[in-house]
Amino acid sequence: MEKIVALCKRRGFIYPGSEIYGGLQGFYDYGPLGVEMKNNLKRLWWQSMTVDHDNIVGLDGAIITHPQVWEASGHVQSFKDPLSECKQCHHRFKSDDLEGDSCPDCQGELTPPREYNTLVATQLGVIENEKITTYLRGEACQTIYLNFKNVVDSTRVKLPFGICQIGKAFRNEVTISNFLFRIREFEQWDLQWFTKPEEMDKWFEYWKEARMKWYQSLFTHPENLTYYQHEKLAHYAKKAFDIQYQGKEMEGIHWRGDWDLGRHSEYSGQDLSFEGLIPSIVETSGGVDRTFLFLLLDAYTEEGERIILKLHPQIAPVKVAVFPLLANKPDLVNKAQEIYKHLRLELGLSTAWDDRGNIGKRYYAQDEIGTPWCITVDFQTLEDSTVTVRDRDSAGQIRLPIAELDSYFAKQLK
Ligand code: GAP
Repeated sequence: MEKIVALCKRRGFIYPGSEIYGGLQGFYDYGPLGVEMKNNLKRLWWQSMTVDHDNIVGLDGAIITHPQVWEASGHVQSFKDPLSECKQCHHRFKSDDLEGDSCPDCQGELTPPREYNTLVATQLGVIENEKITTYLRGEACQTIYLNFKNVVDSTRVKLPFGICQIGKAFRNEVTISNFLFRIREFEQWDLQWFTKPEEMDKWFEYWKEARMKWYQSLFTHPENLTYYQHEKLAHYAKKAFDIQYQGKEMEGIHWRGDWDLGRHSEYSGQDLSFEGLIPSIVETSGGVDRTFLFLLLDAYTEEGERIILKLHPQIAPVKVAVFPLLANKPDLVNKAQEIYKHLRLELGLSTAWDDRGNIGKRYYAQDEIGTPWCITVDFQTLEDSTVTVRDRDSAGQIRLPIAELDSYFAKQLK
């Protein structure tokens, strides 16, 4: 993990939040490579939901909602963690995480567990005393329930169908841990699948399997992905599974039944029934930042001095790097620039340019950020219009005509 954190900062994937002011615990910023990779990931997720399924529609809800939403959802009442505080260093710990009676940091004495609400509150309005307190959403999915009626009234969906969303959620987590694993501002990708109650079992199993397959298709070592079945269940749930990476939760597959639409019907006074019933819900809710972190951990490889991020080409922030063999030979530079511009502007590939140092160093620099292919323009290129294409994982090289590059990359990235 330390190596990943250092690599992320050094190469511009992730920076600690508000760093020039000493940082703010639980917040991170995505750098130039990080944002490319995160966008690639989100695009793949969105595609797997809305392109691969013609009965799923998308949504992008507001982060701040009416305060009553969080009463109806049960969060104001129950989004609490029992915590113990160390009497000596005043660090707080989730009681569930504690293994003994003393502080894990300084061995000091701990207070008995107390409850804290982890919703992040905020105030709206400009006039003091007239401000209203509400919350940044503690889970993104609530805006899907709030818009359920709008969606069924404005589209032609029929049960069963889904509404999907990628969006930010905020939690005053007490234990901030493991880099992006548990943070205070994070992104979730959620599907709420609405169905008739008698079909819940069938759809729960369908989504449990489909989501695992999707993750397996992206990870370098899919054998690290497993299911975890929860024993403690919410009162409305018949079953709950996590998809884990090396034993850590990445996504939850939740049986929410008619709890959410039922509660919002009750609290808002609006009838949220559809096709004669309150639909039941299977939810798949995953963490974008957590998946991002797990993908980096999974891809990180050391081979001697060489560091390689063996990222899936679709996720890699840069797809191709183009090098002129020598930076001081205008013929090589011009030809390489031509290819670089073509790949970038006409093929639309995220393409990097490098003409510094020797070729070996340039390869290593691209390996470290996960660039799947490097193209080198050399003296032979000027004679026969071919280039070398080097593969990141095998370090093997092939010679291809420039005219075949488009179809080669299109095939590789399919
Ligand atoms: N709507 C259901 C829901 O929010 P959750 O299990 O609390 O369920 C879903 O969250 C996913 O969101 C988790 O599996 C995890 O990947 C991600 N997540 C939750 N809390 C997080 C945090 N503090 N930091 C980063 N990701 C988090």
